[in-house]
Amino acid sequence: SQTPSASGDWQTVGTSAELDKTGQLLAKNSPAGPVLVVGTSKAAMTAVNPTCTHAGCTVAWKAEAKKFACPCHGSEYGVDGKVLKGPATEALKTYAAKIEGNSVVVKP
Ligand code: FES
Repeated sequence: SQTPSASGDWQTVGTSAELDKTGQLLAKNSPAGPVLVVGTSKAAMTAVNPTCTHAGCTVAWKAEAKKFACPCHGSEYGVDGKVLKGPATEALKTYAAKIEGNSVVVKP
């Protein structure tokens, strides 16, 4: 959305160098809760809460397939968080993400 946001809403979850090294950045205990950022600082970034909506396992990012996969019961989610394959029925929560200086910041 285009709504201006108060500074302070954005939470730092890591550095752009960390993200660019592997194409993903997992911050399990960020101030915003668990956050998984995928992509690179130079290209499109996506940030989700990686907690599977089925039973709470942490999903993994499959870069080649461009989807999130849950190791527990096989649910899969698209890069937009939407369910591709059950048993999960609800989308992953997504966050806005951007680079600020050398930091990756997200807004719940
Ligand atoms: Fe993820 Fe069951 S907890 S598929």
